[in-house]
Amino acid sequence: MTEAIERPASAAPPWEYASAPESTDIVRLDHRYGLFIGGEFVEPKSGRWFPTISPSTEETLAEVAEADAADVARAVDAARDAAPAWRALAPAERAKYVFRIARQLQERAREFAVLESLNGGKPIKESRDVDIPLAAAHFFYYAGWADKLEYAFPARGTPAPVGVAGQIIPWNFPLLMAAWKLAPALAAGNTTVLKPAETTPLTALLLAQVMQEAELPPGVVNIVTGAGETGAALVDAPVDKIAFTGSTEVGKIIRRSTAGTGKRLTLELGGKAANIVFEDAPLDQAVEGVINGIFFNQGHVCCAGSRLLVQEPVFDALLGKLKDRLQTLRVGDPLDKNTDVGAINSRAQLEKIEELVESGVEEGAEIYQPECLLPERGFWFRPTLFTGVSQSHRIAREEIFGPVLSILTFRTVDEAVEKANNTPYGLSAGVWTEKGSRILHMAQRLRAGVVWANTFNRFDPTSPFGGYKESGFGREGGLHGLEPYLTFDGGAR
Ligand code: NAI
Ligand code: MG
Repeated sequence: MTEAIERPASAAPPWEYASAPESTDIVRLDHRYGLFIGGEFVEPKSGRWFPTISPSTEETLAEVAEADAADVARAVDAARDAAPAWRALAPAERAKYVFRIARQLQERAREFAVLESLNGGKPIKESRDVDIPLAAAHFFYYAGWADKLEYAFPARGTPAPVGVAGQIIPWNFPLLMAAWKLAPALAAGNTTVLKPAETTPLTALLLAQVMQEAELPPGVVNIVTGAGETGAALVDAPVDKIAFTGSTEVGKIIRRSTAGTGKRLTLELGGKAANIVFEDAPLDQAVEGVINGIFFNQGHVCCAGSRLLVQEPVFDALLGKLKDRLQTLRVGDPLDKNTDVGAINSRAQLEKIEELVESGVEEGAEIYQPECLLPERGFWFRPTLFTGVSQSHRIAREEIFGPVLSILTFRTVDEAVEKANNTPYGLSAGVWTEKGSRILHMAQRLRAGVVWANTFNRFDPTSPFGGYKESGFGREGGLHGLEPYLTFDGGAR
């Protein structure tokens, strides 16, 4: 016999989810991880190590080597030594290694997903369903190009690798960013030195083990751990190319220090994307896209839809739906399969988010946060909406990189374009409308590298990704992402 359940007026479900934790048994952590140089894990010459933690519990997971300039030089030497043989290898043979890495990632997907969530704080359902499968897909995709480079870039002359690439990546998609960097570089015949972010080194180090199992020739991929100083040492080292993803602030420093050196450079930097909802948009779908746009990965996403622009006639309706939806988001243990919003990646990032949210309140915007219990330990921030936001507010201009949405309104198409483009950034944008002609009209006018229509945060290895203005230059993904790792000996440009 079933009793009728009384439904409260609010949208919050009248029941609680049972916890559904993913087991961490599959991950075997070493006490300490050295630097991955010349195909082996080696002790750092610096003699220095630093702890890496789980941001959801603040527990130390392992100690990791801190590479100094001498360690970085050793890694670059290893990459330089490995370059001639790797470049000379038949492209179809090179492809086999890259395919092997892709297959290993698939086979060990669960282990990678659990480790990614442990070390970075992102929900397991995201690392399991997005980060790891996409990382494997990038290796598969670029492996396929390795022996077809001349067809990929017709009439450009003979393609050849650039040489040794220094690659510096951030903490928001640790394994996926490693894949974005390594896969095209390897397929094009380059050797690399990769520096993961200081808060999330562990999946890159597990990837190093995959490189060993794939019997990748020693020195083709080297991985040096450490913070900004290690990254700066890599930028200054005798490499042929730097690829960087991270803050605009550091991107500018790297731009200055590589100027005049002849080193090639690609920068993928910050964003402050507009997600634009027109009055004819299917609102329930738009709500899901807006929620995904800003709360996916706790908002630690360079292309996050952090500015919502709503056409005035549907503002009230959309805001009501958004508030209802916010109440159903589950914030907490990243390893719980029901979790929607996990831990903030670090204390420093949490403080940055708190500071910017305070500025929003002080400058007069209206804040909305659902009630939710946050765990006692670890770094957490409630999903947050701001209304009454004006273009000049810091929360409308600066990258918050957290689960915080600033909502503005507009009346006409031209006003939407104007407001969307009124930012120093230009990485992505979203358009929600039933009208196909309006989608095309907007896509042509938005100064953003990616424009999503009636969806958001969709990624595919075949599709180029990158910025305008202070979001950087160069593209990753697709053929565009292969080109920065190649030179051409003549032919038409
Ligand atoms: P960051 O730009 O300092 O760190 C990114 C990577 O660069 C890390 O591997 C770091 O060790 C390295 N790095 C730092 N200083 C360097 C230097 N002088 N030379 C070479 N490499 C260096 O970013 P951070 O401090 O972790 O985050 C600050 C803000 O940057 C975030 O709040 C967010 O707004 C933005 N950010 C944007 C990212 C994106 O994907 N566009 C990713 C990470 C952060
Ligand atoms: Mg920094």
